[in-house]
Amino acid sequence: MFSISDNDFFARRCVWVNGPVIVGAGPSGLAVSACLKEQGVPCVILERADCIASLWQKKTYDRLKLHLPKQFCQLPKFPFPEHYPEYPTKKQFIEYLESYANHFDIKPQFNECVQSAKYDEACRLWRVKTVSANGSEVEYICQWLVVATGENAERVVPEIDGLKEFGGEVFHACEYKSGEKFKGKKVLVVGCGNSGMEVSLDLCNHDAQPSMVCRSSVHVLPREIFGKSTFELAMLLMAWLPLWLVDKILLILTWFILGNIESYGLKRPSVGPLTLKNTQGKTPVLDIGALEKIRSGKVKVVPGIKKFNCGTVELVNGEKLEVDSVVLATGYCSNVPYWLQESEFFSKNGYPKAQFPNNWKGKSGLYAVGFTKRGLAGASADAIRIATDIGKGEDWWHYQHPVDYCWYRKKNCRMRDMFAPGYVWNGWQSASGTYTISKGYNWRRGVSENWAWGR
Ligand SMILES: Cc1cc2nc3c(=O)[nH]c(=O)nc-3n(C[C@H](O)[C@H](O)[C@H](O)COP(=O)(O)OP(=O)(O)OC[C@H]3O[C@@H](n4cnc5c(N)ncnc54)[C@H](O)[C@@H]3O)c2cc1C
Ligand SMILES: NC(=O)c1ccc[n+]([C@@H]2O[C@H](COP(=O)([O-])OP(=O)(O)OC[C@H]3O[C@@H](n4cnc5c(N)ncnc54)[C@H](OP(=O)(O)O)[C@@H]3O)[C@@H](O)[C@H]2O)c1
Repeated sequence: MFSISDNDFFARRCVWVNGPVIVGAGPSGLAVSACLKEQGVPCVILERADCIASLWQKKTYDRLKLHLPKQFCQLPKFPFPEHYPEYPTKKQFIEYLESYANHFDIKPQFNECVQSAKYDEACRLWRVKTVSANGSEVEYICQWLVVATGENAERVVPEIDGLKEFGGEVFHACEYKSGEKFKGKKVLVVGCGNSGMEVSLDLCNHDAQPSMVCRSSVHVLPREIFGKSTFELAMLLMAWLPLWLVDKILLILTWFILGNIESYGLKRPSVGPLTLKNTQGKTPVLDIGALEKIRSGKVKVVPGIKKFNCGTVELVNGEKLEVDSVVLATGYCSNVPYWLQESEFFSKNGYPKAQFPNNWKGKSGLYAVGFTKRGLAGASADAIRIATDIGKGEDWWHYQHPVDYCWYRKKNCRMRDMFAPGYVWNGWQSASGTYTISKGYNWRRGVSENWAWGR
């Protein structure tokens, strides 16, 4: 099955996986695992961090709340507790994910970072190599590979002239926790997406003096319109109206509620917010208070950066600002191209090439969950599709009921999966798929066993 020349197959510990390997134990990976479990499909989740939902647990600031109402953020088959508020806090969301994992008895393999994954044409299996925190290496072999490493796997750190000579503290928004330690300090926040806006708001609330860089344009929408979430309203309108018209309606309503934001230095893109999200994946900002701080002058909006000097930043309009610290709220990217050796389904930017809703399934048992640029709702929809697709392809019952002995009468029976070193054979299937598994009593050993019978 495996070519002899492939030496490293024998160099590392090798594990055969009955069912799919899921890479990533964030909301997407947990959702797929839960949906698979419901269908009796076993799986293994590999997670580089030491906990589930590491983005939420380790890389987000304290004041973070879900910015969409909870019904759009819950994972399949397990609603949020009723007492949760409309917009759960980060802590509540993490607690929800913990109980989700407990409810479905999901136990990821933590501290295992996937280094590479490749489809082996010779044996028609995926070979997934990991390195753990202590340096040990394992190779997982499976028929299905589910990529759940997220759209925000790695921080984006732009190269800006002179940043190395700046001298003050420079860090990414994923390391920002709270503005407490910046009281009285001048902080430059680079970027005006949801992170940039909220970090600026938080800095204001802690009596710091933030300046926020808006180098191009941004759509800022109110989080709610007439007491209804803007997202929900947009979904309702989109069911009846074309996208361009929904965009127009949203922008008119926004103008009434927020006024003309261009007068504060926040240029609006020429394309509407939903069209922009669908075509370029750029998320509109849902305002939860930053705009008020901008209006009152507590957050200063500044244009793009020309370069940094020691303790100062020079902007493209020639203005120079003294700055103590810099927060790079410059976004995130996928890390799929660094480890997945495949170029048909995924493009170079780490997203599936196909557009939503056709971007969840590739060839040879490859799947992607959570790459729809539609947040948690998109991840849940993907998870259900993927689990249904994997579940229907096999009779998973026998994976759940390991057999100790088998009898078969047809010559074309094939034993499954016996080649992987260290693998304990636990199932078989005839080529025609006809077999039964039943309990039998082994008089010689004095124990009950599962027996498989072929016709
Ligand atoms: C600050 C912030 C706030 C957000 N707020 C919202 C919101 O309110 N609503 C919403 O819908 N979306 C929100 N999002 C989008 C967010 O990406 C999703 O909510 C959600 O976290 C996506 O889940 P995921 O499982 O796809 O990815 P992630 O949560 O990023 O999980 C991916 C997991 O894969 C692991 N991983 C990555 N690479 C490897 C590897 N090579 N080997 C092993 N493991 C690996 C990571 O450690 C991580 O645990 C927010 C994003 C950010 C950054
Ligand atoms: N629940 C919540 O409330 C919440 C909070 C935070 C984030 N999120 C989500 O998390 C995801 C990431 O959001 P994000 O705000 O971190 O990233 P983002 O939306 O990608 O925004 C990045 C920002 O950085 C700017 N930028 C990048 N490089 C720059 C440079 N060299 N100079 C100046 N500006 C630069 C971008 O400007 P350009 O547009 O000009 O490139 C953009 O304004 C989004 O999906 C978002 O909705 C949600």
